[in-house]
Amino acid sequence: MYRTHTCGELRPTHIGQRVSLAGWVDSYRDHKGVLFVDLRDRYGKTQVVFSPENGESIMAVAKMIRPEDVVAVTGLVVRRPEGTENPKLQTGDIEVRVEEVRVLNKSLTPPFHPSAKDLPGEEVRLKYRYIDLRRPEMQQTLILRHRMVKIMRDYFDELGFIEIETPILAKSTPEGARDYLVPSRIQPGSFYALPQSPQLFKQILMVAGFDRYVQIARCFRDEDLRADRQPEFTQLDLEMSFVQAEDVMQVIDGLIARLAKDLLGLELSLPLPRLTYDEAMERFGHDAPDLRFGMELVDISELASATENEVFRQTVARGGRVRGVTAPGAAAVLTRKTLEELSEYVVHDFGVKGLSWIKVESDGQLVGPVGKYFDGDFRAKLLEVMQAGAGDIMFFVADRKEAAGKALYGLRRRLGAELKLYDPSRMHFSWVVEFPMFEFDEAEGRWTAMHHPFTSPRPQDIPLLDTDPGACRAQAYDLVINGYEAGGGTIRIHDQALQQKVFQILGIDQAAARERFGFLLEALQYGAPPHGGIALGVDRLVMLFAGRDNIRDCIAFPKTQRAVDLMTGAPSPVDPKQLRELGIRLL
Ligand code: AMO
Ligand code: AMP
Repeated sequence: MYRTHTCGELRPTHIGQRVSLAGWVDSYRDHKGVLFVDLRDRYGKTQVVFSPENGESIMAVAKMIRPEDVVAVTGLVVRRPEGTENPKLQTGDIEVRVEEVRVLNKSLTPPFHPSAKDLPGEEVRLKYRYIDLRRPEMQQTLILRHRMVKIMRDYFDELGFIEIETPILAKSTPEGARDYLVPSRIQPGSFYALPQSPQLFKQILMVAGFDRYVQIARCFRDEDLRADRQPEFTQLDLEMSFVQAEDVMQVIDGLIARLAKDLLGLELSLPLPRLTYDEAMERFGHDAPDLRFGMELVDISELASATENEVFRQTVARGGRVRGVTAPGAAAVLTRKTLEELSEYVVHDFGVKGLSWIKVESDGQLVGPVGKYFDGDFRAKLLEVMQAGAGDIMFFVADRKEAAGKALYGLRRRLGAELKLYDPSRMHFSWVVEFPMFEFDEAEGRWTAMHHPFTSPRPQDIPLLDTDPGACRAQAYDLVINGYEAGGGTIRIHDQALQQKVFQILGIDQAAARERFGFLLEALQYGAPPHGGIALGVDRLVMLFAGRDNIRDCIAFPKTQRAVDLMTGAPSPVDPKQLRELGIRLL
């Protein structure tokens, strides 16, 4: 027998018992010939003590022990001498006096120590992922992930949802990212596409009469990666028949309330707050705003174009806007150098031409590159619309409305964190609804679907499809948490004529539609119920619930920004013979 207890289990009630523990050597200290070792496993740490009193043979083994060796001990549980208790450990009142010891396996000197305060760079952590995953913090995150998925499955089971697996070797789906392709050996020249989501299959399951489908589904998208994106990720994916947007949102409201309560002890009041897309863009410049703090965007086009500032005047004259935000208390925190960095940041990351700022001095004076344009009456007006006062800094961007909004969104996000405008442990959940159906792709000169081509317009907006597609709003809803898009869904089109019209606007002709999603279009003609659904990003939810800012920390074996698995070395070249079998020749 290796162990009677785990390393997190022993308490004063065990004092006097003879126990066996097994685990990794977390640390050891030699104190006047007595060796104190912290033994660690998933459950915690226990101090085990090797003392010459218990025999020379034990000490001989003990002296060989090194960090990360795997060790089993048997001994007596005793109370720690008074004053040596460790309140940081759950087992900190006791220790185990070792009577027998076995080294089950030696470890090479690890590239870093799981309990070290200073971690090495992420590359090292990812290459030696098994060491990194020994860190209690990483284990807690993956345990949280397990609990979250368990709660999801229980919740949907209670509501009558059926979990159904859909294919991984599939056909290209319409989420709009690049596909990962898998060559077919049996049909040379043909390829499967890994699913970007189970979208088409879940709609077909509604046609098949399953009524309520759910899946913890792996999705694959070959796109540029960021801190909140992975090439393969997991969705909580669901679809419901005979529903409207309200019904889907209500189900998710209930899930979020359950997760918040069971995982964080938070009581949320439902329904979760809602914001229209237009409102979100106007007030925050983005469709997934962080609502944990204010700092809302203000349009000062009218005022600014009345000043002598040429950039402002010309921008407005050309149909652009001057938009601004007020950063409360920023004057005391942001140095001139930081202000220059912020300016570089918005110019570089958001492609606008500049960032103007005005500092409000304690005497109300306006200081900064464009301060001089707002004197006299302008000054009071500006302070009023910007709701700015002494110690604040106002920022302005003059550009096209969306571009200025995006830049100020980035600035707001950054300053919100830097100026500590919110408690980072707080969570804010909301819905953004009434998205546009279409986005105009300037580069390609055509409309694209904002969500996907099966999204239904709002019934009252159907006439706009003919007259003004850009004004047409979709029955779409996104779940937003702390400024992240945590999920998105829509009510689908179940009417053939309407679907044709939407394809037409998107420039997808009948042949192309048949070739890409013919099987779905066909299925929709055999009695498709009205239906809709949503998918939540599980990795992102774990990240947010665990209070982390990197999705890679929430996945056991993630990939780098360059889509590489540093531990296994994937992707890697393959044997020429394999390629030949597949009928593939490399360029
Ligand atoms: P969508 O494309 O919005 O919708 O994806 C749903 C959610 O999945 C998460 N997500 C990602 N997470 C990590 N890495 C990625 N690369 C990544 N891409 C997306 C996000 C996102 O909100 N089939 C539709 C859903 C539907 O209409 O029912 C879909 O996939 O949290
Ligand atoms: P310049 O006229 O280039 O000397 O710029 C004067 C100030 O206006 C600088 O602080 C610029 O960053 C800022 N600025 C330039 N273009 C814009 C713009 N489109 N929106 C806001 N500020 C700008």
